Amino acid sequence: MFIDTHSHLNFPDFNEDYPDVIERAKSVGITAILNVGADLSTSKRAIDIAQKEDLCYATVGVHPTNTNDLKNKDYPVLEDLAKKKKVVAIGEIGLDYFYHKVPREIQKESFKQQILIAERLGLPVIIHNRDANEDSLAILKETKAKRGVMHCFSGDSNFARGVLSLGLHISFTGNLTYKKNKPLRGVARGIPLERMLLETDCPYLPPQAKRGMRNEPSFLIYTAEELARIKGVLIENLGEITTKNAKDLFGL
Ligand code: NI
Repeated sequence: MFIDTHSHLNFPDFNEDYPDVIERAKSVGITAILNVGADLSTSKRAIDIAQKEDLCYATVGVHPTNTNDLKNKDYPVLEDLAKKKKVVAIGEIGLDYFYHKVPREIQKESFKQQILIAERLGLPVIIHNRDANEDSLAILKETKAKRGVMHCFSGDSNFARGVLSLGLHISFTGNLTYKKNKPLRGVARGIPLERMLLETDCPYLPPQAKRGMRNEPSFLIYTAEELARIKGVLIENLGEITTKNAKDLFGL
């Protein structure tokens, strides 16, 4: 039993065959999929899919690299979308200093505004952070965001400690299985199971065994196997604990 807490079946990559993808996910024991919005249109698409597919939930948010186009009038639109049925989080939101597409000040302001929406609606946040550890933690502290997850974790143990001390969860993708990511596996070993989530971030980041392919929720198993090995627990137990974590955090 597993939950894919961060998937993008709402992206065009899955337009043709997402029902088949969901069937394959079911066949390996995936019991829920959260399709995560990255702008207004993919947020709406995530809600459409959630209304059609029992297994799917939606999240609403604007990814930091898309915040250039975000206008003040868009925040109430986002907030209304977030009130729809089966919307379980605000995300993905955050900071991305790797790409220099959007000025940092604009990213920070959009991050804060969207955390405030989450706080008003009592929803957790799904955070994207790349090369912005200090600023991300500072904004999370300042806004007193209490419930959420640092998605696609790839930081060091210092950053993990910072995230955990805020009360947030940490989520792992297929990149945990990459040969070069030995340090990340070391960091994962030190993170308590009770604060861990699993995700694919599909269509991106396929696990090592599926490199070069379009990633999909059924491939979550590879990351789960690796994490179970790292933590020295049975995969069944890892599934049970991370499923409970996801249900509690997102109120599924
Ligand atoms: Ni994503």
